[in-house]
Amino acid sequence: MATTPTLALFLLLLGVTRAHSDGPAPRRPNFVLIMADDMGIGDPGCYGNRTLRTPNIDRLAREGVKLTQHLAASPLCTPSRAAFLTGRYAVRSGMASRNRVGVFLFTASSGGLPPSEVTFARLLQDRGYATGLVGKWHLGLSCRHRADFCHHPLRHGFGFFLGFPLSNLRDCRPGAGSVWAGPLGVAAGAALRALGACAAALAAARGAGLARARGGAWAALALALAALGVAAAPRALSLGFRLANCVLMAGLEVAQQPAELDGLAGALAAQGVAFLERHARAPFLLFVSFLHVHTAHFAGPGFAGRSRHGAYGDSAEEMDWAVGQILDALDRLGLTNDTLVYFTSDHGAHVEEVSAEGEMHGGSNGIYKGGKATNWEGGIRVPGIVRYPRLLTPGLEVSEPTSNMDVFPTVAKLAGAEIPSDRIIDGRDMMPLLQGHAPRSSHEFMFHYCNAYLNAVRWAPPNETAVWKAFYFTPNFDPPGANGCFSTLVCFCAGDHVTRHDPPLLFDLSRDPGERRPLTPASEPRFHAVLAAMADAADAHARTLDPAVPDQLSLANLVWKPWLQLRGPTVA
Ligand SMILES: *[C@@H]1O[C@H](CO)[C@@H](O)[C@H](O)[C@H]1NC(C)=O
Ligand SMILES: *[C@@H]1O[C@H](CO)[C@@H](O)[C@H](O)[C@H]1NC(C)=O
Ligand SMILES: *[C@@H]1O[C@H](CO)[C@@H](O)[C@H](O)[C@H]1NC(C)=O
Repeated sequence: MATTPTLALFLLLLGVTRAHSDGPAPRRPNFVLIMADDMGIGDPGCYGNRTLRTPNIDRLAREGVKLTQHLAASPLCTPSRAAFLTGRYAVRSGMASRNRVGVFLFTASSGGLPPSEVTFARLLQDRGYATGLVGKWHLGLSCRHRADFCHHPLRHGFGFFLGFPLSNLRDCRPGAGSVWAGPLGVAAGAALRALGACAAALAAARGAGLARARGGAWAALALALAALGVAAAPRALSLGFRLANCVLMAGLEVAQQPAELDGLAGALAAQGVAFLERHARAPFLLFVSFLHVHTAHFAGPGFAGRSRHGAYGDSAEEMDWAVGQILDALDRLGLTNDTLVYFTSDHGAHVEEVSAEGEMHGGSNGIYKGGKATNWEGGIRVPGIVRYPRLLTPGLEVSEPTSNMDVFPTVAKLAGAEIPSDRIIDGRDMMPLLQGHAPRSSHEFMFHYCNAYLNAVRWAPPNETAVWKAFYFTPNFDPPGANGCFSTLVCFCAGDHVTRHDPPLLFDLSRDPGERRPLTPASEPRFHAVLAAMADAADAHARTLDPAVPDQLSLANLVWKPWLQLRGPTVA
């Protein structure tokens, strides 16, 4: 992998400060938890893709247990990751938005995972585990001052952090487009049209002899400058956005600002491997949180232009290679049998992500409807693979409902950590299902949130094969008949952007996994009874929520705050 000189230098510096730990051989399992960003369940070969090459993810599935009804707790990054790390629905920690915007868009926002929340990393660190995070965080940074880092991974139980405090975004790669292109382009277009109308009125007035020539010339110049400013604003904003938000941190230090994407995949993989080497003799937990396969896509020389699926495929295949680097390191260090490896994606593929040239830049959700930002199965049913040779039979497949929140209690139990008893944990220990000891999921009901709004309920009754799913509202796809919300780039959760359903829209996923045919009282005799049971469960769930929990994604917590802005080295 090519690394830029600056990146190489900084990796060298990190190497110098490496700590060597010489503990006893692990008696408790190690954990490597791998999360892709925006990868769809239709992408990995082991979930049925024949053209995207993911041999390393496929190897994990062959050697481990493959989950086919594994669900992200939310269809968006920030809330899904908050739920994953805490084992709790994001509404419980205030990490589910009541606004249109459901994720952090700036490093200098004041919201984030509250210090009062307990992550599995914290539990394991307290039990003597070496804990590390390589890659994306996206759960806030500072609260009140530029470097209080109240939401930082190092404050949430990770002893090591190298990665992006925010997320990879289109603006992080010059030329890859801008997340601001849509709304700002529309605003700039409107402003330019208004200026054009002014110019035309001016010209007409001059023609009618109403304005003196010199005054007219000044006015024309002012209009031309204003037009230039308006036209350049989106580009200037994108550059500023990249500088402010595409930041690579090493611990509490800024390592690169703006971060250089070239060579980054290899560098992050090398950092993951180095973590494993440093801690090979003590119990460890490594969270590998990929920047891939979110836009802006990037891939090193070994992958750029190699896949059959354009820039998206290159990026996905490079990510699979990085998974392989981690698995190879475990083999080399003799750790494979004692390490539980988990692979997932934070939510479904972003179906509306299409490049300016019309190339598909989002992944595949296979047979499932919708994608990222929706609670159709395409938004939440994600790859889920668990390999742990000591206890799990290779090649097993589990089709029962499981959640990414289940990692919390599963990891805690295996590590011998006490689960906090002062709060509700929504995740369930997955081991009985994974070991084939329990035939049914202990998640009888699951609650699917769109931001902070209860969007749908899932019910897998223990005495039936049906998996009922009831929607209280659904997003309005546009154009009508499309499989996403193309004019807004993502679907929204409220207002005119959704259609409410009373009675709720009911599906049986065991018969209709693509959610194509809503049931009716005529097609399903138990229609009303099923909905009544689900409504009771939703009410009981609602009573467990604390309405007073501080909203981390309120407008006041989401906006850019200059006094929180990181100011690190600028790469020449
Ligand atoms: C790992 O486990 C497998 C299956 O249980 C066994 O065949 C193999 O020898 C073990 N490897 C090591 C290094 O212990
Ligand atoms: C395989 O993945 C690529 C990239 O996401 C996608 O275009 C293609 O449709 C997928 N194939 C299947 C069968 O889902
Ligand atoms: C399953 O149990 C529920 C009550 O717990 C009952 O309402 C339902 O009819 C049962 N389903 C079947 C197929 O027996």
